[in-house]
Amino acid sequence: VTAPPITLYDALAPIYDEWQSWNGMTPFARVAAAKLEPLLRREARRSARARTQPFSHLDLGCGTGTLLAALRAAQPDWRLAGMDASAGMLAVARAKDARSIGWTCGALAAPLPFRRTFDSCSIFYDTINHLDEPAAVARALGFVAAVLRPGGLLVFDVTNRLGFERWWAGRARFGGEGWAMSIETCFDTDTDIAAADVSLVRPGCDGLFKLRERCYEGDEIRAALDAAGFEVERARPWAPFPNREPGKTWWMARLARPT
Ligand SMILES: C[S@@+](CC[C@H](N)C(=O)[O-])C[C@H]1O[C@@H](n2cnc3c(N)ncnc32)[C@H](O)[C@@H]1O
Repeated sequence: VTAPPITLYDALAPIYDEWQSWNGMTPFARVAAAKLEPLLRREARRSARARTQPFSHLDLGCGTGTLLAALRAAQPDWRLAGMDASAGMLAVARAKDARSIGWTCGALAAPLPFRRTFDSCSIFYDTINHLDEPAAVARALGFVAAVLRPGGLLVFDVTNRLGFERWWAGRARFGGEGWAMSIETCFDTDTDIAAADVSLVRPGCDGLFKLRERCYEGDEIRAALDAAGFEVERARPWAPFPNREPGKTWWMARLARPT
């Protein structure tokens, strides 16, 4: 039996956290967690009387688990779960907290493998941009709706047109103890597809990986949310990186309650 080809994120996993802190940067997931945690805290307070269980949160495309580890540090009593398509990323996440956070391998391409529903859900750092067409976003959000309680909160980011135009152009090089990575990016304004060629050398891996992302307009995201039964509460440009433009949009939407 031939082993399946290693995916970009499986290849990146062992150096992902070091790359995210490269040159003194704060990892994106920590920036997102710092903005998300007070919102979820307010959400937990609001729903406290209606709940008999601890507040519960699911992070999709959770990667190496940094966001959930930050939520756990702030909220020891919440029920936390993460899902990601990459087993390699999840192995790094599990090493951070195998005991109090549930980790599941799965893709946003099929019904999500959770038996209980969650009070809130997040999807960060371009995970939605990884989906290749609007219908795939609508389908994915439908799967999310099925594991949220009615009235539950969904929070996510997408890289917007400004972000793709400014950030996805040219070559960047990174490196650390025993590894080197170069990322060459371009954004095609005719197709709205962004492409990255990622060349990575680290112990056990020397390869070239391709990443494709899609730029979604606000009305495409709104239509997908509407089709999945969500009501938009916020869609605001967001600048997560210091001294950079608002190349992301921060979305919040609530699952409609049955009438
Ligand atoms: C840029 S990383 C972000 C990881 C993490 N959220 C963070 O902030 O560091 C994107 C993550 O989404 C995952 N991913 C991409 N497409 C996915 C899909 N269709 N379903 C589930 N996970 C997916 C990748 O494996 C990867 O871990």
